[in-house]
Amino acid sequence: MNLQVASTARSKEFPVPRVFEQLDAIRQTVLAARAAGKTVGFVPTMGALHEGHLSLVDGARAECDVSVVSIFVNPTQFGPTEDLGRYPRDLERDLRLLGTRGCDLVFAPAADQIYPAGYDTSIDVGELGRQLEGEFRPDHFRGVATVVLKLFQIVPADVAYFGRKDYQQTLVVERLVADLNVPIEIRVMPTVREPDGLAMSSRNAYLSAEERRRALALSQSLQLADEIVRAGVRDVETIRGKMLAHLTSAGVDEVQYVAFVVEGTITPVRSVDGPTTVVIAAKVGATRLIDNLRIG
Ligand code: PAF
Repeated sequence: MNLQVASTARSKEFPVPRVFEQLDAIRQTVLAARAAGKTVGFVPTMGALHEGHLSLVDGARAECDVSVVSIFVNPTQFGPTEDLGRYPRDLERDLRLLGTRGCDLVFAPAADQIYPAGYDTSIDVGELGRQLEGEFRPDHFRGVATVVLKLFQIVPADVAYFGRKDYQQTLVVERLVADLNVPIEIRVMPTVREPDGLAMSSRNAYLSAEERRRALALSQSLQLADEIVRAGVRDVETIRGKMLAHLTSAGVDEVQYVAFVVEGTITPVRSVDGPTTVVIAAKVGATRLIDNLRIG
């Protein structure tokens, strides 16, 4: 990773944000900004940025004086057979994109900065971390909660921005901040979709053109659930059955779950009688995708 080049390069139209690799340097810079009366908005990411991430930066810029983005592919949130090794990484492209959106500061540490030798503490987020995503990715939310808390210590911002696409992750982060008294506000921003409805995700880059077409079935099945509820059907098993039929006929390879939960929780419902979120995880080829939609 050639940060020197990245941080000093200047695009003709847009300034590249200031890049920090060292924990102490970014922390002191953020603390100094806050001491000077500025508000700081923070967007934690794993890079491979897309419009979804950039909308979070827009949110931070709109609400805060200083915007900070972290780029760190966090190894502890990947399972042993998952895609850590091939997760897309392109720091220079990410910095260019962040420049176009006016991001001020980027924190891009090396893995041993975050997890030095001997590192041995982690956060158990309880039941919330064990259901749904947690069933299929057993230590995923332990890794997410641990790195997010560490990032909040390193970048002590006023507000942190997360995308609604990772619905359960937003609940985990809100739980973590409440349970451990972390002095930061959490903002959840809407899912950003491609024009045809596919939720933006860094993992969409893995899809072939043919898989990309089949992947559309996730957002379509969520839309279908919404239409069925609007037509007056409430029974979750009936709606789930129609969604599964659509997913199967569209050629999705493996549906891991389609769950109906009380909005803002992971508590399952049997009937859509109030604000409900449908969450879905499925594999298209080797790529695992998630999406969700609020209905009812
Ligand atoms: O949503 C992500 O990209 C990651 O889970 C996060 C929050 C940056 C933690 O590594």
